[in-house]
Amino acid sequence: MSLIYRVAPGGALTGRIRVPGDKSISHRSIMLGAIAQGTTHVTGFLEGEDTLATINVFRALGVSIDGPMHGKVAIHGVGMHGLQAPRDILDCGNSGTSMRLLCGLLVGQSFDCELTGDDSLRRRPMRRVADPLTQMGAVIATAAEGRPPLKIHGVSDKLHGIDYRMLIASAQVKSALLLAGLYADGCTCVTEPAPTRDHTERMLAAFGCPIERIDHTVCVNGGSKLTATGIEVPADISSAAFFMVGASVAPGSDITLEHVGINPTRTGVIDILRRMGADLTLLNERTVGGEPVADIRVRYAELRGIGIPQELVPLAIDEFPVLFIAAANARGETILSGAEELRVKESDRIQVVADGLRAIGVNADPTPDGMRIRGGAYQGGVVNSDGDHRIAMAFAMAALRASEMMVINDCANVATSFPGFVTLAHSTGLGIQES
Ligand code: S3P
Repeated sequence: MSLIYRVAPGGALTGRIRVPGDKSISHRSIMLGAIAQGTTHVTGFLEGEDTLATINVFRALGVSIDGPMHGKVAIHGVGMHGLQAPRDILDCGNSGTSMRLLCGLLVGQSFDCELTGDDSLRRRPMRRVADPLTQMGAVIATAAEGRPPLKIHGVSDKLHGIDYRMLIASAQVKSALLLAGLYADGCTCVTEPAPTRDHTERMLAAFGCPIERIDHTVCVNGGSKLTATGIEVPADISSAAFFMVGASVAPGSDITLEHVGINPTRTGVIDILRRMGADLTLLNERTVGGEPVADIRVRYAELRGIGIPQELVPLAIDEFPVLFIAAANARGETILSGAEELRVKESDRIQVVADGLRAIGVNADPTPDGMRIRGGAYQGGVVNSDGDHRIAMAFAMAALRASEMMVINDCANVATSFPGFVTLAHSTGLGIQES
C-alpha cells in the first residue's frame, strides 16, 4: 500500500485536459438512481475507489448496476422500498460521503445493517449525522466517541420530519437528512449556517422530487417518489483545482481544463485564486443536466498572499490542501481561519499540510482553525501525505516551484478520487513518477 510519488523540480503545465468526473455528483447518481423507479443512465461517472464503494454497497442492497465502463453506468432502480437486507457489513472504504449519506438513506428501511470503512474513515465523526437522524426517530449505534462502525436498526414508517438547524456547514449532513426525509412523515427542513454544495437538492429535482428552498433552509416532503433520469457528470472542480494551482505557480504555464463543474456552491477555489492574483478565464459556459459547466483556462501569474474570507471556506472546503501550496508560492502572508472542519477530513489537513510545508522549507504556522503561510522559495524533500489523496496531489504540484526533488509517501489513496492522476499530470508537463 505504500505508493510513493517522486516529482522532479520545476517545469510548467500546458495543454488541454479533462479531469475525471465529479465525486459528489457521482455518489449521488448511484444513490438516487437506486431508489428511483426505472433505469438511470449516467455518463462521465468517476471510476474512483470512493464511488466504486458506493456502487458495491448498492449491489449488496440488491440493486442491479451495469458498469462503470468508460464513465457510463446504468442503475436499475428498485423504487423507494425495494432495497434488500445486505448479507454482510457494508464497506464504505475511505469515503465519508458514502457513509454519511447512506446512513440517512438506510435509517428508514425495513432491515438492519452495519456500515464500516478503512482506518481513516473509522476515525471520523459520525454524531453529526447520527444525532439529528435520532431526533427523526432513527436507531443508530456508533462505536466509541461517535465513530464508525454504524449499526443501523431499520425503522420503516417510524421516521418523522424535523426542522433542523445545522451547527456546522456540511453538505453531507444536509444530504443525509434530506434522504432520511424522503422516508419520514411530514416535512424535513434543514437550515445551514452558510451555503454548502447543493448537488443533492439539484439532483432530487431532476428525479422529479422538488425541494423547497427559502434562504438558508431546504425542505423535502416524505413519501415522495423518484423517477429515473439521465445524468451527465461534469469534471470535478476539486480535481481540476490541482492543475489550477500548478499552472498558476509555474512560470510558462497555460492549461485549459475542459467541462469543469462550476456550481456556485463549489467555486470558492476560483474566487480565492483570483483574489490572490491568478489568471483564470472561464470559457464556453453552459448548463449540463442541471449543473453549470465551463472550460477553465489558467495561465501563470504572480500570486500574492491574502486573508481568506470566511464565507468562502465551505465553498472551497476540499481545495485547501492545494490552496496552501498556492499560498506557499505567493508573495507575503496568507491567513486562513474558520476552517476547523479541515481537521476531521480524510486526515487532519491542517497539521499534515503544515508538517509537509515545514519539511520542504516553507514558513507555515498551523492554528486550531486554519493556518498562516508566508510564501517564498523552498527546497523539496520528503513529505508524508498521511494517506490523504488531496494532500498527495497538492504536494506533487508543489514540486513545480521546488529546487530539489519532492518525494511524497503514502499516495495510494489518490485512486479514491483521481484515478489516472499520474499519467494525466505527466502529460501536462509535471515530472511525476510513481513506485
Ligand atoms: C461532500 C461534502 C463535503 C466535502 C466532501 C464531499 C459531499 O463534506 O468535504 O469531500 O459530497 O457532500 P462535509 O459535508 O463534511 O463538509
